[in-house]
Amino acid sequence: MSKKIYIFDTTLRDGEQVPGCKLVTSEKLIIAEQLDIMGVDVIEAGFPISSPGDFKSVQEISKLVKNATVCGLSRSVEKDIKAAAESLTYAKYPRIHTGIGTSDSHIKSKFNSTREKILERAVAAVKYAKSFVEDVEFYAEDAGRTDNEYLARIVEAAIKAGATVVNIPDTTGYCLPHEYGAKIQYLIENVKGIHKVRISAHCHNDLGLATANSVAAVEHGATQVECTLNGIGERAGNTSLEEVVMILQHRKKGVFHTDIKTQMLKGMSNLVATKMGVLVQANKAIVGDNAFAHSSGIHQDGVIKSRETYEIINPKDVGVDFSSIVLTARSGRSAIAYRAKNLGRSLSKVELDAIYPHFLAVADSKKEVDNKDLLRIIEEVLIAQAA
Ligand code: KIV
Ligand code: ZN
Repeated sequence: MSKKIYIFDTTLRDGEQVPGCKLVTSEKLIIAEQLDIMGVDVIEAGFPISSPGDFKSVQEISKLVKNATVCGLSRSVEKDIKAAAESLTYAKYPRIHTGIGTSDSHIKSKFNSTREKILERAVAAVKYAKSFVEDVEFYAEDAGRTDNEYLARIVEAAIKAGATVVNIPDTTGYCLPHEYGAKIQYLIENVKGIHKVRISAHCHNDLGLATANSVAAVEHGATQVECTLNGIGERAGNTSLEEVVMILQHRKKGVFHTDIKTQMLKGMSNLVATKMGVLVQANKAIVGDNAFAHSSGIHQDGVIKSRETYEIINPKDVGVDFSSIVLTARSGRSAIAYRAKNLGRSLSKVELDAIYPHFLAVADSKKEVDNKDLLRIIEEVLIAQAA
């Protein structure tokens, strides 16, 4: 039986903390509602202590969301945890996400503390959060650079204190996939009680490895992935939701599955890009404008004969209506015939041969030949031929 992987969306928290991505409550509500409909399991709605606006957003999202768990972030600080608990009062399924930096760099530079004191703070935070809600997720910030033995101790202590989910963030995007996978495996083999809880992967993309690391974590036993739409997030971003979901659906079918309605991915990507004002790069996997666009003649000819020659995903599966054949100076006759046919002009071989040099002349003078250009070229050439 295929194993369910829980999708924890943090677009509205880790994604929204990016400069320029700030949203007002009404915008967050629109995104949260759609995330819920799309089938994410957990919506991290914000960091309630950080501002009255964030508190209100988490509270309103809690009232609105019907299916997903709603989660509020906190540090291992009582006032943070209390604010998170209060903001989640109306949630059907509330979760407090609390934790602390566990790498030596965080312990020394950020907290001027010791491993023992940090462990005590982590345990106290989980116990305090547990006094408000049943579902408590513990994060070991900078787990990617945390010594595995200490990480195992603090994770075990958090589980003993009541954590239901343990999050192992690669906060700085430092790990390579085999290292991150091995870290998850180490915890599975060395932490008492780990089988009772969910292990969560939370990866950042500083080396472009967030998705690869998340998939490695799943292959080694993590059952929750924390991610954002379009991969937005601190610095180089977080794991991209659409990439992880499609990798699991496409390359790990029968082994893992998620509950995401993948046909909503493109629309959700557009919604987040528009609301946050952060454009998606054209060559972004799954949701970029060029993800299903073919421009070289050889590729176009292949896709026209059979889509699978150059596409591993059916664009319809992610909410893109069609594979687009972009007409440029590198397009061949088959692409022109295909586009012309879609425009209601079936061309014979002789007509196509006559049109082709004119098409190339126009294509050389512009980036892309659009439908209007093509129809004009066809008309001009065919009228000249008839005269
Ligand atoms: O990257 C990180 O470590 C985080 C935690 C606060 C969960 O976002
Ligand atoms: Zn993060």
